[in-house]
Amino acid sequence: MNILAIESSCDETSAAVISNGKIYSNIVAGQLIHERFGGVVPELASRAHQQHILPVVENALKHANIAKNQLNAIAFTRGPGLLGSLLVGTSFAKAMALGLNIPLIEVNHIQAHVLAHFIDEPAPSFPFLCLTVSGGHTQIVLVRNHMDMEVIGQTQDDAVGEAFDKTAKLLGLPYPGGPLVDKYAQQGNPEAYEFPLSEMPKYNFSFSGIKTAILYFLKANQAKNPAFVEENIADICASVQHTLIKMLLQKLRRAARDLNIKEVAIAGGVSANSGLRKALQEMGEKERWNVYIPQFQYCTDNAGMIAMAAHFKYLKGEFTSQEVSPLPRMDW
Ligand code: KG4
Ligand code: ZN
Repeated sequence: MNILAIESSCDETSAAVISNGKIYSNIVAGQLIHERFGGVVPELASRAHQQHILPVVENALKHANIAKNQLNAIAFTRGPGLLGSLLVGTSFAKAMALGLNIPLIEVNHIQAHVLAHFIDEPAPSFPFLCLTVSGGHTQIVLVRNHMDMEVIGQTQDDAVGEAFDKTAKLLGLPYPGGPLVDKYAQQGNPEAYEFPLSEMPKYNFSFSGIKTAILYFLKANQAKNPAFVEENIADICASVQHTLIKMLLQKLRRAARDLNIKEVAIAGGVSANSGLRKALQEMGEKERWNVYIPQFQYCTDNAGMIAMAAHFKYLKGEFTSQEVSPLPRMDW
């Protein structure tokens, strides 16, 4: 059983092939065009998807050594994401499924980030908790089985990826700044500066306060020393990253203790963060958790995770009609 999956929810155009539950290719084309604007420009993103989608799909099929007529279904990200970007992947998938006369499978992007854990062994056992952290989401998900997931906590404002990217912007670093904050943080002292932790009820998060705190902190220090950022960038990044990780892991630990769950996973673009990966391992050892961290290529947006989710849906016979349209605010 061969499925071609397409991901185009934000600024990566990606295609993957899964055969009987095993990923044979996962091609990702990024979009450097947004860097100079300091964030994703939706109109430019959808145009770039239009340019990339055909070569990316052809590459994915070639790498997997699968011909179009050997495909059994086409999967695509229906949402959440940018409407113009989602439209490119959705229309392409619909046209291809129609042309080949095979079923369509719609996939929820956030659910796919969680199901990325089933690409490689060992996979978590049910029920497990998944901290899903990306540029658009920050959630603690209780995963009862492949298709039964419940969001038990989430951010009330910015996503943690946005907090990383906005910090980077304030420091004059290019977009997307998360990986650069990570890089500088590796050489800095995480206790050099203190930033406030937010107080949110239950398992919820808030990241808008820290952004304002950083802004005032930088203004005050730059007034005294115009070269403050340049001279202290590693310590600033390490301290901000330390605070963000602390906020995430405190809530994750609380949820795991309350629900008495020892299987704990992370997913989404921010799970590529080296500080978060290390801190989660350390907390896991103390709390006696089994910790699951995806390979880098399956952390940030990729069609491999869409293909994995589509595999489970195919087995359950969950197909989508040709009438389908994208859902920018798709819920579970
Ligand atoms: O999952 P993803 O690729 O796209 C969304 O669905 O949003 O996540 C992108 C986010 C961006 O905010 C990016 O800065 C962040 O993940 N990110 C990182 C790292 N790698 C990617 N943040 C911190 N450290 C990293 N190493
Ligand atoms: Zn994502």
